[in-house]
Order: sequence, then C-alpha cells, then structure tokens
Amino acid sequence: MNVVVGQSGGPTSVINASLAGVYAAAVAAGAEKVYGMRNGISGLLKERLVVLNDLLKSEREIELLKHTPACYLGSCRYKLKSVEKCEEEYEKIFSVLEKYSIDCFFYIGGNDSMDTVAKLSAYAAKIGSGIRFVGVPKTIDNDLTETDHTPGYGSAAKFVATTIKELVRDCSIYEAEALTVVEIMGRNAGWLTAAAALAKGEDCEGADMIFLPEVPFSMDGFVEKVATLLKRKKALVVAVSEGVKLADGRYVCELASADQKEDVFGHKQLTGTALFLANEMAHRLSIKTRAIELSTLQRCAAHLSSATDVEEAYEVGMGAVKAALAGRTGVAAIFTRTSNVPYRCGVSIAEIDKIANMEKTVPLSWIHEDGTGLTEEYIKYAMPLIQGEMSPIYENGLPCHLVLK
Ligand code: F6P
Repeated sequence: MNVVVGQSGGPTSVINASLAGVYAAAVAAGAEKVYGMRNGISGLLKERLVVLNDLLKSEREIELLKHTPACYLGSCRYKLKSVEKCEEEYEKIFSVLEKYSIDCFFYIGGNDSMDTVAKLSAYAAKIGSGIRFVGVPKTIDNDLTETDHTPGYGSAAKFVATTIKELVRDCSIYEAEALTVVEIMGRNAGWLTAAAALAKGEDCEGADMIFLPEVPFSMDGFVEKVATLLKRKKALVVAVSEGVKLADGRYVCELASADQKEDVFGHKQLTGTALFLANEMAHRLSIKTRAIELSTLQRCAAHLSSATDVEEAYEVGMGAVKAALAGRTGVAAIFTRTSNVPYRCGVSIAEIDKIANMEKTVPLSWIHEDGTGLTEEYIKYAMPLIQGEMSPIYENGLPCHLVLK
C-alpha cells in the first residue's frame, strides 16, 4: 500500500500533529511509501511529492513535527474546477496518483479543502478508480459542519483567551479613559472570537464586549455601548471578529478600505477592523485607543497549544487512515462528543458532501441578546478544548521546529 497526504488552506498550530497521525497510522498499517504533497493539490498537479518515510525517520522527528506550527508540507488555496469545465486537471491528478501506485489519499483542511476530497472521490467513482479519498478536518475557525469541533480551534482559543487575560491586566494600569480593540480571525463564524469569553474568571474581569459576525454590527450602537461602559469603567477591552458585518452585509473592515483582495474561493481578505474601530472611537469619543490585530499569531502560537487539541489532531489523522483501510472513501474523520464533564469525545466518520463548502456558525442561542457576549452554554462547550499544556522542545531557549527544506 502507498498513500499520499497533503495540507491545504490556512494553517493551525496542530495541523502537523494530524500529519504525524496519518503518517504513524499508515506506517503501522504496513504502507510501503507515505508521500507528502508539497503545497497541497497544486503541488500534486505539478508532481511535487516528497517521501515522508525518508524525512520522518526517528521518534524525535515525529515529536518535533507535532510541535511545529503551520504546514510542514506547505499549503495552497486551490479550487478544483468542475469535471465538466476542466477534466484535464482530474486526468492529470489521477495519472500522478497511478504513477506512484497510490491507494489512499488524505487531505488535511477546512471546508474549502473538503471540496477537493468531494470532487476527487466523485471522479474516482465516475472512472471506476479504487483510490480512497478521506478528509482530515482542521481550522482555527471551527466552522466545519458534522464535527463537534475542529482540530486547531482549541489551541487558537487558548491563545485568544490567554492574550485577552494578559491584555486586560496591561490595560487596567492607568486612570485615564482608554479603549483597546482586539481583532480575532474567523471570517463568517465567530467561534474564535467567542473564545475571548473564556478569559473571565476569579482573577480576570474578562473582555468588556465581544462582537461576532453572527450578529449584525451597528456603528452607532458601538459608540453608544462604549460611551455607556466608560461611565462605569475607565479602561475597556473589546474583542471583535475580523468578519463583523453591517446590517447591509458589508464587512466593517470595508468601511476603511473597499478594495479587499479575494482568494480563489471568493473570500475577501479581512483585516483592519480593529484599527478602523479604534480610530473611529478616538475621533468620536476623544479617548485614547489602541488596535491589536492578532492576525496569524493566533494560529501559529504552538508554544501555547492545548494538549487536548494536539492529541485529538493526532487521533483524527489516525482515524482517517483507519477509515480508508476499512474501505471508506468520500468521507472525513470527525469528532463526536458524548460528554462535557468529564470531557469525552471520539473520532467517527461523516460523508464529505455534508462538510464540503458548508459553514457552521455560533448558535444565536449561545450569544447574549444584546450581541455583546457569550452564554454559559458556550463556555461549557469550549472549556474542555483548551485544557492541557504541551511544552515545546526547547534548544538555546527557543522552541525547535521541524522544517522541510
Ligand atoms: O481559514 C482560516 C483562516 O485563518 C481565517 O480565519 C482567515 O480569515 C483566513 O484563514 C486567512 O487566510 P490567509 O492566511 O490565506 O490570508
């Protein structure tokens, strides 16, 4: 048996743990060669493959891989056209897979990447190919359907909550009025921004307001809420999703700059929301403001990974291999939770068509009625996902990474 594995879309700090899981399970199942696609499907199209058996020879390398953020194999945002529009692309992919005698294809990615698994498994059925195609979920956005949560979310959520806790301390030192706006990733789903709610506890008052894309954002409402809060409290910390939208559907960041670039999936690059809001508030309320865009820091902070997340990311990679060995194709490995306390969650399988291109948003019933905070239900859901610490392997005072040259 030979297998090929690729990584696609935005990275997480544990996506390489899933790669390690796929690799370990494939080797344990007797795979002769485990190939890695450089830069996902776009690399496969150019036959850019590496032999992971030659690269991951020792236990230390596999451990390092699990602690290395971003995509070891490189990533891509590449949308396969439909078979009707571009059958040559499919023919090319299958000719490469046949050349390397590939039996199973694993793709670690989010909802857009699952579209690739869906299209390739459908094409395999059309041409009578026996190659199995299985998706391995990942995304800090936590917006995949069918699965309880996605690998990568717990670690990013831990980083967000930790950062909010630290910022709240820093922002409360002066007596002067001030507003700090923290921008968090997540496009159209507010799961990661919601993690700001986890910061609240006995030693932290938490974020003063949290705004998710699930609830339409009003500029005037925001000014009013900040002004009202400032009457009670001097320094405010507010978390906003990069994807907060006005009632007319425009992203708030488009108010600052209307020429947001789009990727091949038609997603606008979202950035600048915090800066825009901080500048507006400085101007309208004459207060000191600061904008903090967590940007890519929140998805590569492997030094603050959740141990639960790292372990689950590894397991879901193994689960995908198990599914392929059982003859499944056109599916993805997913998480099914059976209990919050104690936290119990296992790997199961879902049809890829129910995941590809779909988006799961935060239930409105988990958001406070005024749209500025999260309910206890969310806290119960998210808290188990950020549990456990996993210290990086350090050398010369810095974390070590495994790098593919
Ligand atoms: O898909 C995950 C994600 O991290 C989103 O939260 C974010 O909007 C997007 O990727 C950014 O993508 P890129 O790094 O390709 O600009």
